Amino acid sequence: MRDRPPTDPAWRSLTSPADVADALVGLYERRGSRHYDETVTQTEHALQCAARAIVDGADDETVAAAFLHDIGHLLMPEEGDDDSGDGVDRHHEQVGGRFLANWFGDGVVASVRLHVAAKRYLCAVDRRYHDGLSPASVQSLIVQGGPMSEPEVADFGSAAHREAAVDLRRWDDLAKVPGALTPTLHELRERLVAVLARP
Ligand SMILES: [Fe+2]
Repeated sequence: MRDRPPTDPAWRSLTSPADVADALVGLYERRGSRHYDETVTQTEHALQCAARAIVDGADDETVAAAFLHDIGHLLMPEEGDDDSGDGVDRHHEQVGGRFLANWFGDGVVASVRLHVAAKRYLCAVDRRYHDGLSPASVQSLIVQGGPMSEPEVADFGSAAHREAAVDLRRWDDLAKVPGALTPTLHELRERLVAVLARP
């Protein structure tokens, strides 16, 4: 599939697990060379995040969410992305979650939607987590609203799939190592097909 906006009906017309997985992987092949941060590309970041989920024994849906969690960045024009440096939060996690809900269930979608909230949550409850954030992550935290308030922490504590989202967030923060060994896009495609093929 050529580059199309996420609202294009051509995306929603994809129904077979193989076609959906091919289109998603194709998006990373075409747009994943964008920089995630100063150290790795979006595709390297996605594969490293999935690799950490696999090493930690996460289930297939959580591995898929780890791979796809930042797909919202790839769905936006590069100059209009959250990370374009203009200080505007375009909520890439919501863009990505809405897009993935065309084909995936809550086990994938909720973790993607919540991965920014999980960062704000961890910053509120874990000082060491906050202090360990990369400079780019500290900058985006400000744009994303900063650490959660007490009421927000209480709300997050009752959100479905919050534990998977917190796990994903911790892998996310570690998935920035130049040259790290990861599975290939083809291997991730096979995992996506397996998740998409489930009833
Ligand atoms: Fe990420």
